[in-house]
Amino acid sequence: MKNLFVMVFFLLSTIYANAISVEESKQIAKGAQLYDKWMSVKGVKSPKEVHPSYPATGKKAKDSWRCKECHGWDAKGVLGQYSKGSHYTGIKGLQDYKNGKIEDIVTILKSENHQYGSVMKDEELKAIAIFVSMMQTDTPFIDSKTKRVSGDATNGGIIFQATCAKCHGEDGKMINFKEAPKEVFVGDAIRDNPWEAFHKIRFGHPGTFMPAFFPFGDKTVADILSYSQDLE
Ligand code: HEC
Ligand code: HEC
Repeated sequence: MKNLFVMVFFLLSTIYANAISVEESKQIAKGAQLYDKWMSVKGVKSPKEVHPSYPATGKKAKDSWRCKECHGWDAKGVLGQYSKGSHYTGIKGLQDYKNGKIEDIVTILKSENHQYGSVMKDEELKAIAIFVSMMQTDTPFIDSKTKRVSGDATNGGIIFQATCAKCHGEDGKMINFKEAPKEVFVGDAIRDNPWEAFHKIRFGHPGTFMPAFFPFGDKTVADILSYSQDLE
């Protein structure tokens, strides 16, 4: 009996620890999209000068104002997907601010180091901080070498056909992300960068009407990725 109480308590505490209020849910997708590409969310141009914290050795100076360019799609910085390759900066990840105080994160974003106070409103910085504090998550279902996602592809297929197909097509070929004659469809994008796709499926694609699917949970998103990687 005692064990049962302990178990129920444990279950409730994990549910409450992850609980998101309606107010927070409004901010999360917005904050995550600002993290992805705040210029597209706001419909503005990127500042002309390279971000002051972007290393001179970096190869992606034109994207230097996007959070993801320095901290990665996985927010793990130098310990994550950007630990090598053309996006390498050597900058640390945001793990220490998982469950961090919103005010502390906003202060960091306004600091000399970041200078976001001049390009975004306080409410936008707060939304980003809520994303950083509440939504950092591990992606053990992505194989970092092969980039294959292990998930329940059958479940993923059911969700893909019910929710993604109306925009991306039943075969995933309704939206071409490149100018013709080049072709990059949803399956190609998810094979190429499952971390980016994981972020965009959870939170939506900035500047478009693609919705956020994070309330479905990470495992379900992994299932969708797993199914989509087999689209031709
Ligand atoms: C041009 C590169 C660059 C961009 C873009 C950038 N940051 Fe940073 N960020 C840094 C550097 C450098 C540090 C300091 C790391 C250190 O102390 O070694 C840092 C630190 C942080 C920290 C504190 C991490 C810690 O553990 O001390 C947070 C939180 C953070 N950034 C969030 C963001 C968010 C959110 C955005 C987008 C709005 C962003 N950053 C954009 C370079 C960048
Ligand atoms: C309401 C329409 C709509 C729905 C529903 C939708 N998407 Fe999208 N999606 C878009 C649009 C529009 C884009 C951006 C196209 C562009 O950049 O040319 C996009 C972009 C993407 C991208 C980013 C590709 C890249 O590399 O930039 C991925 C991945 C993606 N969608 C997957 C999905 C999946 C999986 C689902 C279902 C869970 C889904 N989308 C549901 C409209 C939608």
